Amino acid sequence: MSSGTGTKPLRALEKNGARISIFSNTELLFSAARDEILRVLADALAKRGTCHVALAGGSTPKSVYALIRRSVEDHTAPLINWSAVHFYFGDERCVPPNHVDSNYKMAMESLFAGGAIPQANIHRVQAELSPAQAAEQYEKELRAQFGKSLPAFDLILLGMGPDGHAASLFPGTQALTEKQRWVTDNWVPKFDASRITFTLPVLNNAREVLFLAAGAEKQPAIAQVFSSEPSVPAGWVHPLHGELLWMLTEDAAAPLFQS
Ligand code: 6PG
Repeated sequence: MSSGTGTKPLRALEKNGARISIFSNTELLFSAARDEILRVLADALAKRGTCHVALAGGSTPKSVYALIRRSVEDHTAPLINWSAVHFYFGDERCVPPNHVDSNYKMAMESLFAGGAIPQANIHRVQAELSPAQAAEQYEKELRAQFGKSLPAFDLILLGMGPDGHAASLFPGTQALTEKQRWVTDNWVPKFDASRITFTLPVLNNAREVLFLAAGAEKQPAIAQVFSSEPSVPAGWVHPLHGELLWMLTEDAAAPLFQS
């Protein structure tokens, strides 16, 4: 499987069961991620007629969303039947949908603003509710879409924080131990706030997980993720039956080449 149709990585390798593509700068990483996302969409639609994608928050995905929107607007993206594509959020901050910190707001502005995607296909977390209610509501929303068995997202897009968190699974937090729930609220002491997040069973049941990480500040976490016994949440994301792809900038990837 290619890691993108147009943008070739500087280096490509495999480690700990993951494919890793490394790019010399963020612009190339953004366009490779756009290509990969569009490839997965087209592939899922061709094979199953629908596509379910979970989006990430953070600055790296935001730039990728803007590129996808642009390529749809200028018709350089492959023709996609957007009415069959459903978007979800792998995590959300506990704020109303018009709040500056909302991942939904960020995606609305960067990805959905062009209007190609029907509003009914954008499944947001009702993060204006209490954290427990918001998590419960979102799990119900997923169950309404996927039925009883654990969802197998065609694609879960993730960023990684410098502390090695993925979605809103932060090191040392309760949600990391969750085995039954698909979505949970998670108290994050360093923010003195709760987040809503997919749990590890959902992340690890995806058909593909695509991690995006850029910048030298991600080096310690990358070293951890690709060590023999990862001690950070991002290192515990390993789809059981699916693909794991990491797209990194060269500076973020430096620890992979240190002995
Ligand atoms: C969020 C995220 C989070 C993010 C990472 C990386 O809502 O904050 O989903 O997990 O992806 O913190 O963010 P950057 O791309 O900004 O480094």
